Amino acid sequence: MTSTDIKITKASSSKIHQVNFDNLGFGQVFSDHMMVVDYQNGKWGEAEIVPYGNLSVAPSLTTLHYAQTIFEGLKAFRQADGSVAVYRPEKHAARFNISAERLCMPDFPEELFVEGVKQLLSIDSEWVPSQKGTSLYIRPFMFATDEFLGVRPSRAYKFLIITSPAGSYYEGGVKVIVEDKYVRASEGGTGFTKTGGNYAASLYPAVKALEKGYHQILWTDSKEHKYVEEIGTMNVMFQIGDKLVTPELNSSLLAGVTRASVIELAKHWNIPIEERKLSIDEIVEAHEKGILKDAFGTGTAATITHIETLNYKGKDYHLPPIEERQLSKKFHNYLSKLKVGEAEDELKWMTSI
Ligand code: COI
Repeated sequence: MTSTDIKITKASSSKIHQVNFDNLGFGQVFSDHMMVVDYQNGKWGEAEIVPYGNLSVAPSLTTLHYAQTIFEGLKAFRQADGSVAVYRPEKHAARFNISAERLCMPDFPEELFVEGVKQLLSIDSEWVPSQKGTSLYIRPFMFATDEFLGVRPSRAYKFLIITSPAGSYYEGGVKVIVEDKYVRASEGGTGFTKTGGNYAASLYPAVKALEKGYHQILWTDSKEHKYVEEIGTMNVMFQIGDKLVTPELNSSLLAGVTRASVIELAKHWNIPIEERKLSIDEIVEAHEKGILKDAFGTGTAATITHIETLNYKGKDYHLPPIEERQLSKKFHNYLSKLKVGEAEDELKWMTSI
């Protein structure tokens, strides 16, 4: 049985008055406290909540060289009655350890992950914003702390949780370009984990896409560039006719918590949904036949983000106006209300603080 005791040292003053809660953006300001736990000699040490502040690291820190690092992203919401609740923390704790295993890192006790989130949220509850569409984004992460230049798994690690009041990740819908040259991840690699390297690999193609006027990339499989996978900051779903279709999971794409939630809701509401290989040719053909009714991304940061335009091999395919997207709007409306306590939590996804 792991201890979930957490030692608390409070900040002497709060930075909250410096924050403009009406213009938060994403990931730019950080609340007063963070949780820190060190792993050494084969075990996790005492968990501590301390004032948010800089870390001091050695130049030889193995993470800086070989990227043995993982993270999660989850959100807490101000409820209609003024209290605070967090969305599916256990699912994020479990996924964190899936990433840890692939990156040769120690398991982090899931009950301590959830307890850390809860205690941090009680201490920094004032930081959970109440404006429409906002949340407190919670970022647990772990990195290797050995000071060593040989290539092997580190023997020491640091686990932290920081939190950041946030607005929308994307403002409105996105224009997406289908990638048929670069890859973010390939089967057998680390694409299914939340490790920094996956995001580093996506930067160069993403900058190229931005130069062409597209917000994001729709990644395709690394072998044939034939099957769509994910968007990098979100999973992807298409409505073809009356059916929702989303790429099936494999080792090169992330098992998103919002993706899982939409699939569970679709099943709960008897909306036909298929998880399968989905080729870009099938999507283009559906568009040409007029049966591509919707395309949207799902993610914790991105929530449900409509795709307005899909570009493939230099040609833009425009999706129907957002007002016509009944299915994705149904998921979006339910999840938005559920998260702020305005819809019944039928599937028990919210944890009150
Ligand atoms: C999330 O949705 O939490 C993510 O991790 C996406 C991103 C901001 C990297």
